[in-house]
Amino acid sequence: MRSAEVRRRDGATYTPRAIVSAMVEWAASGKPPRRVIDPGSGSGRFAVAAGLRFPEASIVAVELDPVAAVLSRANLAVRGLERRASVIVEDYRAFSPGNVRGPTLYIGNPPYVRHHQISRHWKEWLTRLARDRGLTASQLAGLHVHFFLATAAGASAGDRGVFITSAEWLDVNYGALVRELVLDGLGGQAIHVVAPDAQAFEDAQTTAAITCFQIGSRPSSIRLRRAKTVHDLVRLEGGQPVPRERLAEARRWSPLLRTARKIPEGHIELGEICRVHRGAVTGANGFWIVDPETCELPERVLFRAVTRARELFAAGGTLARPDRLRAVVDLPADLDELDQSERGPVERFLRAARRLGVHQGYIARHRRAWWSVGLREPAPILASYMARRPPAIVRNLADVRHINIAHGLYPREPLAPQVLDRLAAALRKSIDVGQGRTYAGGLTKFEPKEMERLLIPDIMKTA
Ligand SMILES: C[S@@+](CC[C@H](N)C(=O)[O-])C[C@H]1O[C@@H](n2cnc3c(N)ncnc32)[C@H](O)[C@@H]1O
Repeated sequence: MRSAEVRRRDGATYTPRAIVSAMVEWAASGKPPRRVIDPGSGSGRFAVAAGLRFPEASIVAVELDPVAAVLSRANLAVRGLERRASVIVEDYRAFSPGNVRGPTLYIGNPPYVRHHQISRHWKEWLTRLARDRGLTASQLAGLHVHFFLATAAGASAGDRGVFITSAEWLDVNYGALVRELVLDGLGGQAIHVVAPDAQAFEDAQTTAAITCFQIGSRPSSIRLRRAKTVHDLVRLEGGQPVPRERLAEARRWSPLLRTARKIPEGHIELGEICRVHRGAVTGANGFWIVDPETCELPERVLFRAVTRARELFAAGGTLARPDRLRAVVDLPADLDELDQSERGPVERFLRAARRLGVHQGYIARHRRAWWSVGLREPAPILASYMARRPPAIVRNLADVRHINIAHGLYPREPLAPQVLDRLAAALRKSIDVGQGRTYAGGLTKFEPKEMERLLIPDIMKTA
């Protein structure tokens, strides 16, 4: 009844039975809830399972899609739960839970919808609600972040919750809000990270996180655990206790899941010899990326750059010439550096930018000068990092720049061209998509730090 496209837009991915049961069982390890709230109930899988497990509880399913809501009602009725259940067709962020006597259990699978599809109204709502709690929200936050905040705002001390979401929030900048809520407000108890191979979702290859929380609690540590198969999820228990101070300091949480790693003889981590940096974010590629042949701007502000991952795939290992590439306009932060003859075209260009509102974009407003993209220096090796295939590792003989569709590998010490060639070859050989993280949709992504952890033969020794 709903096409894949509509399901993607609404973040409608239903949870497999084994995971629903494991989450309900975790909930049953605490005081029985007086009420169960299933935010984004879909066809009511959590509402039904929790309703059957907690016979004294009322059940509230909140679902925006009226068709899914009808399915929730039907499923609740078939299982004889209709007298205790209400299905509310409403945006969960606007839903006000009210009070009941006794604990509420929040259980479910908040929708995964990226920020591009979230309206300004709800972004402002997120910012305001976060600010009320002394927290900062990013405009780039996905819908699951909104659901966490709405839950923290609506819940009362003693309530418990367990949500399965994409694991993205553990590491990305916009996830800081959830990380802070888990530490302070939601009362995080444990996080179980589910590898994509475990197929947490029937129709999405993604790393999932199951977050268990108890409002009002402030444990001295939170248990982190990696589940490799669905079997590991039968019981949501165990995991490594990580002290809250450690979590509060860490900018990313998934590295804390790793146990110390054994490096095979004769191998090193790439990070020992190179730093990996993502390319600059322009904030408006349609404006800052130009055809250098036709652009009237002075040549010295036009930088040939890799601006599409497919340019790296097409390079076949070596990018020898810059002439097929487009250019990024990178103006100096101090425009006084331009000489008189350069001013005219640059001013015309900036007037056009203002007319299009480019200067008001989020990225533009947050850099030193909105007109200055700030490209990194050319990296001798470039790597794609997000695709449904292993990354392309490319020797950059053309000395071109890169934007945020690629990572640049920058040697910590200068390396001879032959050593760089060997390094690129070794990386190509040892790279394994399994070492990256898989997101919704089957994309494999390597963050710069993950790329630095790639194991390669110690090329310095074989030199
Ligand atoms: C990831 S699915 C989970 C469905 C179901 N709970 C399950 O686990 O099988 C998320 C559900 O949230 C609904 N949804 C999306 N945005 C919503 C919103 N703002 N408020 C309430 N529900 C929403 C979608 O229609 C979808 O049914």
